[in-house]
Amino acid sequence: MKACILMGSPRKKGNTNALLEPFIEELAQHQVEHDLIWLYDKRIEPCIACRVCQKDWKIFGCRYNDDVQEIFDTIIACDVIVLATPIYSWYCTPPMKALLDRLVYGMNKYYGDNQGPALWAGKQLAIITTCGYRPEKGADLFAEGVKRYCKHSQLQYLGMLAERDLGYQSIFMDAEKAQHSCFFAQELFKHTWR
Ligand SMILES: Cc1cc2nc3c(=O)[nH]c(=O)nc-3n(C[C@H](O)[C@H](O)[C@H](O)COP(=O)(O)O)c2cc1C
Repeated sequence: MKACILMGSPRKKGNTNALLEPFIEELAQHQVEHDLIWLYDKRIEPCIACRVCQKDWKIFGCRYNDDVQEIFDTIIACDVIVLATPIYSWYCTPPMKALLDRLVYGMNKYYGDNQGPALWAGKQLAIITTCGYRPEKGADLFAEGVKRYCKHSQLQYLGMLAERDLGYQSIFMDAEKAQHSCFFAQELFKHTWR
């Protein structure tokens, strides 16, 4: 069992990372391997709808020679994808959105007249997010978008952990949020623990 955590926060010591840390510690305690990719450190060009990726159904096949091929390979090698992101304007941050666009074409070979496979079919996906509004009003649209994205991509959506940030004057992380993060890891992976 291996997780691939796609981290969309620009802040290395920010709220989303603080929420992610107990999750990762829980995985480590139970020998669940993980890759953590900080998307703001990567070169991720936006999709330009050239559809070159639709020609060969066996490979990612994008015309860009940026860091997405390497991310693609990491995702193909994992069982569970974790989207960790702060909410920006009711959705994920720009590099994650750019990556999701690149993957929704590069992974799914069924655009236009194509009837090819989803190269990542059957993998599982979960969200860890932080937002300024209550999660029901801050993270709901992102969750809904990701659910449809998963359905379209033949991925199994596992659920979302969302916690509220009350602003720069207050400390985000506390014991309760840390516990939620541990529980979320347990919910996702406990069936694989001995
Ligand atoms: C540009 C920007 C846009 C934001 N948009 C939203 C939003 O639409 N809804 C929301 O609930 N919070 C929004 N927030 C608040 C962040 O989601 C929240 O502060 C988050 O915890 C920041 O996480 P980080 O420390 O990992 O960057 C926004 C913050 C920024 C900087």
